[in-house]
Amino acid sequence: MQPHFEYIQDALYCEGVALADIARGAGTPVYVYSAASILDRYHAYDEALVDFPHLICYAVKANSNLGVLRLLVTAGSGFDIVSGGELFRVLKAGGDPGKVVFSGVGKTADEIEYALESGIHGFNSESEPELALIDALASRRGVQARVSLRVNPDVDATTHPYISTGLREHKFGVDIREAEGMYVRARSFGNLLLEGVSCHIGSQLLNTGPLMQAFDKMVSLVERLRAIGVPIKSLDLGGGIGVAYQPGEKMPSIPDFVAQMREKIFGRGLHLMIEPGRSIVGEAGVLLSRVLYRKVNGEKQFVIVDAGMNDLIRPALYQSHHEIIPLRLDGRGTITADIVGPVCESGDFLARDREVADVLPGDFMAVCTAGAYGFVAASNYNSRPRAAEVLVHGDEWRIVRERESLEDLVRGE
Ligand code: LLP
Repeated sequence: MQPHFEYIQDALYCEGVALADIARGAGTPVYVYSAASILDRYHAYDEALVDFPHLICYAVKANSNLGVLRLLVTAGSGFDIVSGGELFRVLKAGGDPGKVVFSGVGKTADEIEYALESGIHGFNSESEPELALIDALASRRGVQARVSLRVNPDVDATTHPYISTGLREHKFGVDIREAEGMYVRARSFGNLLLEGVSCHIGSQLLNTGPLMQAFDKMVSLVERLRAIGVPIKSLDLGGGIGVAYQPGEKMPSIPDFVAQMREKIFGRGLHLMIEPGRSIVGEAGVLLSRVLYRKVNGEKQFVIVDAGMNDLIRPALYQSHHEIIPLRLDGRGTITADIVGPVCESGDFLARDREVADVLPGDFMAVCTAGAYGFVAASNYNSRPRAAEVLVHGDEWRIVRERESLEDLVRGE
């Protein structure tokens, strides 16, 4: 079970709140997040880096709800953003722009200007033309922009191909073999402070081997750059630590992972940056839904629920596994069924051929480990209003995003 989620007398709780109370009070589908779980994970990274110069930039794309961001602001976190929209959210949540890094392969001029105007910490740049644009915009503003090149270390993350980013064939970063030349050429840009190197090889890594391999390659690159007079001060390893989605899976230990990195760069005068997303929020959230119908087609059983691929696209897009458990254990036994949503697509499933509780219409179920890349990737497909989001603190819960209304669906049309 996810930390801070447990059955108490056959009812599923998040911290001190029975999830059925939230399902009834806020309606379904609804995302529920545990504040304690998010903070525990953030602190696991932060405490492992105590006394070491570092900046943890939570990857906003994993879960950008203002309630979640505010928690992390209070804990002292920095933020990794990939759009002007994410910067807007961080600033709304009271985040310190001086702790924001801007990543992404296609930043527009408007987004770069917004970031410069806001005084962000720096950019992770992915190409020479982008360096030129940042330089030009910084020069117009009369400021210096801190920049790291996002390097592609050519390491296979051995994760799902859609979330693997560290190979030469991917659109991300610049080839590590070209990086030195690029840093040297970039010295001619008068408004760039080329102080860092960065990488991100992929997401949902349950084995830290590839991350450490990438880290080693980046440390060697830092040494080579320093040797030719490029004064690199920081190394940003990106995100990537995976979480347990299936029984038997185990997420890597955050303290062990961080300790390995610390050891490798101890005494080298490097500021360590990381951009964890999923490992902070993934196990902190569930998606609650209600069973609408049971149905049998030929040999197959279906449980039709009120959450669909527009609410959680991960099963359809990455064939990803999310455990689905009842909010009440009533000893009725199990069935093998497809758990599907109401969307008119055969790809609209949350689980296939899964042994699940023998639920009845009206029962509530929790789709587990849905705190990362869940609500943020939701859409209005089939004109379905997006779900509500709830944050639990101890014995209290509050709606941190209201369910969309029908009017919301047509706003702007
Ligand atoms: N930094 C950069 C530059 C990234 O591109 C990402 C994720 C992260 C940090 C955070 O990685 P994490 O710690 O969460 O692994 N929608 C997919 C995941 C896409 C990840 C994209 N980049 C999913 O649902 O699995």
